[in-house]
Amino acid sequence: MLLSPSVLSANFANLEKDIKNIEEGGADYIHLDVMDGNYVPNISFGAPIIKAIRPVTKLPFDVHLMVQAPERYIEDFAKAGADIITIHAEASVHLHRTVQIIKSYGKKVGIALNPATPIEVLDYIIEDIDLILVMSVNPGFGGQSFIDSALEKIKNLRAIIDERKLDILLEVDGGVKLDNAKTVLEAGADMLVVGSDIFNHEDLVARTREFKNL
Ligand code: DX5
Ligand code: ZN
Repeated sequence: MLLSPSVLSANFANLEKDIKNIEEGGADYIHLDVMDGNYVPNISFGAPIIKAIRPVTKLPFDVHLMVQAPERYIEDFAKAGADIITIHAEASVHLHRTVQIIKSYGKKVGIALNPATPIEVLDYIIEDIDLILVMSVNPGFGGQSFIDSALEKIKNLRAIIDERKLDILLEVDGGVKLDNAKTVLEAGADMLVVGSDIFNHEDLVARTREFKNL
């Protein structure tokens, strides 16, 4: 199981310390939620923050762009130190082109599916991508409840990935907590994003370890 804690719920006055603690606890990636106040109602942070924290950890950066027309910013995030760049299927009018732009910077590409987005949007692009991000909440905020219909979507995608022997990570984001993480993994997820259920705890090292020990 790969764990990608989302620093959206971290203490931004102490980001360096929080990141070092989740690294010590065994996190595999750092999940960075970029929100533009347009594609989603909330605003979080952008490329300068990612660039600033790049030297703080060796962990790869899993950058989740909740941004309208993300093609405008791929260069910025690639240069800031992203390793995986995930965009939302609906956010880019020319999705195929944007996927190729991300690849042109040598970065891994992910496509995110909102709770109501059908998996068919991937039909003609699935061979080109490295990761599928199944949203199990409507994007925009940390601390929301897991939407159960995501489980069927995860199962269906797992079957497609296995059947076609695709080299694609299946990541799940939103409302994943210690008490439902096993169910999400059993449905077929490879990689879990966890925000509030790690960062709302006092001991980040121990809490991260609890997830890794599942
Ligand atoms: C939601 C973000 C998530 C979120 C996860 O828009 O993409 O990454 O921060 O937070 P929790 O685990 O609190 O749902
Ligand atoms: Zn996210």
